[in-house]
Amino acid sequence: MEPRMMRQIVLQSYAQGNPVPGNFAVAQAPIPEPGPGEVLTRTLWLSLDPLIRFGMDEQHVTGAVHLKPGDVLYGGTVSEVVVSNHPDYPVGCIVEGRTGWREYAALDPVAGDRVRGAMRRIDPALAPISTALGVLGMPGQTAHAAVRGIGRVQAGETLVISAAGGAVGSIAGQIGKILGARVVGIAGGAKKCAALLDLGFDAAADYKAPDFAGQLKAALPEGFDCYIDNVGGDVTLAVLRHAKYRARMPLAGFIAYYGFGMEGPGPDHLPGFFRLVMTKALELRGFSGPMVAGEAGLAELAQWVGEGRLGYRETIVEGLEAAPAAFCATFAGGNSHVGKLLVRVAQPSS
Ligand SMILES: NC(=O)c1ccc[n+]([C@@H]2O[C@H](COP(=O)([O-])OP(=O)(O)OC[C@H]3O[C@@H](n4cnc5c(N)ncnc54)[C@H](OP(=O)(O)O)[C@@H]3O)[C@@H](O)[C@H]2O)c1
Repeated sequence: MEPRMMRQIVLQSYAQGNPVPGNFAVAQAPIPEPGPGEVLTRTLWLSLDPLIRFGMDEQHVTGAVHLKPGDVLYGGTVSEVVVSNHPDYPVGCIVEGRTGWREYAALDPVAGDRVRGAMRRIDPALAPISTALGVLGMPGQTAHAAVRGIGRVQAGETLVISAAGGAVGSIAGQIGKILGARVVGIAGGAKKCAALLDLGFDAAADYKAPDFAGQLKAALPEGFDCYIDNVGGDVTLAVLRHAKYRARMPLAGFIAYYGFGMEGPGPDHLPGFFRLVMTKALELRGFSGPMVAGEAGLAELAQWVGEGRLGYRETIVEGLEAAPAAFCATFAGGNSHVGKLLVRVAQPSS
């Protein structure tokens, strides 16, 4: 009998600089058969996360995954179990894991994937299942870790966030407000800045506007205590000028540089950066959101969502084939998404 086929997105070519849709290809593959102890999952939601770019370099620089042309793109998913050989993951249950950019996957749900480990069972009664990839998943944990853990934000302090309209930034800003901080967001374009004010941010600055420096100065009259950086580059250098002495800087990401390995193509910003870090005695720390926030962070996020104190936005693109273009637009500055960027791969069976 002919095997039943599925679609998947594979790496077509290594990325140079920011990723482009030509780095990806749609491929067909047989739907895998789950072995003993394994389950077959059907992908419902796919998460588009900037960190996936780390796996797309020809010469691997950093990150846990290194793809070769022909490999299926890795990434977080929410799926339903459609065949089960594991008693703890019965048919019909909803799971979150890293099954990648494909319609089906067969795997041992306890071993999970080598990056994140076991698949997480999701309770659909708690919140829409897509939130397991956003506010109640890795981006939410990263926001929690940045504000609560590394940033130690207190009531009355001023918190600044770059890429504030994204999955992490939009949650981090709201957590800052829950904790009583004054929150300033940085995003590209007047529309995104307006969306930040809708989310409860106190002020927003548009890094694409010619008067960005003036907007920042007006938004930070007394400087800031904590800067959650998602971007790096020119945005960060402009922000750091407003740091109070001994301000904290949780370094969640540096998306402006993801395409450039260890050395950027433009001017060398390191002298200015080191100058600001030293003279302002900045406390700078990189971190993994899920590792710092853990289960306790997830529980607090779920509590705030349940109490209606923490909202979330999702921007949804339809169909697996739409994933490459939407992913690439995030880097090219052409993405108007606010909140978590998701691909709806399929509707649940029931
Ligand atoms: N440390 C961790 O554990 C962890 C976990 C998750 C995510 N992260 C990192 O956290 C950051 C945010 O992730 P996310 O999931 O919130 O991403 P996201 O929802 O995809 O948002 C990313 C946003 O970054 C902005 N951006 C892109 N290129 C830029 C550039 N050159 N200059 C300035 N802004 C730029 C864009 O917003 P505009 O339209 O405003 O330009 C884009 O929408 C990323 O760097 C990501 O890799 C880290």
